[in-house]
Amino acid sequence: MWGGRFAAGPSAIMREINASIPFDKALWRQDIAASKAHVEMLGAKGIVSAADAATIADGLDKVAAEYEANGVPEDWDLEDIHMTTESRLAELIGPAAGRLHTARSRNDQVATDFRLWVREALDQADAGLKALQQALVVRAGEHADSIMPGFTHLQTAQPVTLGHHLMAYYEMVRRDRSRLADARARMNECPLGSAALAGTGFPIDRQATARALGFDKPTDNSLDSVSDRDFALDYLMAATQCSLHLSRLAEEFIIWASQPFGFVTLPDSLSTGSSIMPQKKNPDAAELVRGHAGRIAGCLTALTITMKGLPLAYSKDMQDDKPPVFEAASLLALSIAAMTGMVADAKFRTERMRGAAELGYATATDLADWLVRVADIPFREAHHITGAVVKAAESAGLALDQLSLDDLKAIDPRIDERIYDALSVEASVAARASHGGTAPDEVRKRVAEARKALGLEGDA
Ligand code: ARG
Repeated sequence: MWGGRFAAGPSAIMREINASIPFDKALWRQDIAASKAHVEMLGAKGIVSAADAATIADGLDKVAAEYEANGVPEDWDLEDIHMTTESRLAELIGPAAGRLHTARSRNDQVATDFRLWVREALDQADAGLKALQQALVVRAGEHADSIMPGFTHLQTAQPVTLGHHLMAYYEMVRRDRSRLADARARMNECPLGSAALAGTGFPIDRQATARALGFDKPTDNSLDSVSDRDFALDYLMAATQCSLHLSRLAEEFIIWASQPFGFVTLPDSLSTGSSIMPQKKNPDAAELVRGHAGRIAGCLTALTITMKGLPLAYSKDMQDDKPPVFEAASLLALSIAAMTGMVADAKFRTERMRGAAELGYATATDLADWLVRVADIPFREAHHITGAVVKAAESAGLALDQLSLDDLKAIDPRIDERIYDALSVEASVAARASHGGTAPDEVRKRVAEARKALGLEGDA
């Protein structure tokens, strides 16, 4: 397609290093759609005849049908999806095919195709994350009252509810979706018609092609248009941040499913067995979600470094933009789906959770708060008294509310029987009714708001 000025063909190495068809064939649907929008515009503007435009559009449909049925052929001599499609079009319709590339370049073509692809990946990720949010709010609604230990430093800190814990991930996913929406709004401008780098002398209609491809408007600078990959980086940044959240959720399930915790029974459908230890049920899906976050962050790093220091406008380095984006998108889609299934189908062992919350002296802060509030003791002193109570409970092997009033009074005589109202894990979570706190009624409010935001009917 470009051999006119060359005396010799490319070496085998040149052909191999140059060929992007092995991976950019994934862009075929976008390439056909953009070509159809382009040729329709060329016909409407009289840049090619109406007859040729119609022949080309028909031919593109035939090429698409072949790709759909048989896959995209991989011929390194044709380099990429753009030349592969144009060459097949020429075989099918003859010389009219040569008019399709009027007033465009592969530089604006690939920028357009890739934006369309990333836009779809964004939309798919968003739909997947919405399903994950739905699973989270449903389970959170079921467990607004289920008490578990809340941790800091992975040490038992204060009792929380499982619903509250799950809704924390709802919030993370809410931010992930807003980052995707933000990236989508910013990227939705059409580079087609920027041609190689400087625009074109043909009287094209960039508004028309932008509209036909669902963009808000054409891009405003041709140099920027063919060399901008911010949209791919925005996507990878959003994907990376999302994968961090998914890996944290995965890690919770891994810890909770371990025998000493025993907080959750993972769905069989998302677990595997061991080839040697018959009793094992391993959280492989969660571990792979945790692992995939590393690979997705690696994809972001790869494209970041590829783009660093490139002068305007297009450079061939930019052909390397696609593999990391494709890889990240498929890893992210799998990770979202795996965690959605995990949240929806895990069996939470609420008795174990409640027991762990009671054993860890998780209501010690409530005892100290009570001493402040009811007995008017300064917090520092209350903290000290409470430490002595925990020590006594620990040596007696009892929970805080299992200590007798005599034992408690021996530590500080200002304690009276009302203390027991503050010491149960139920009292502890119910007391934390500040906005966004773990009190079951607060959690129910957040769940109701979330259900409304997600368009779920009625309450849990
Ligand atoms: N396969 C190329 C890519 O993905 C298409 C653009 C080629 N442009 C060029 N001037 N050689 O980047």
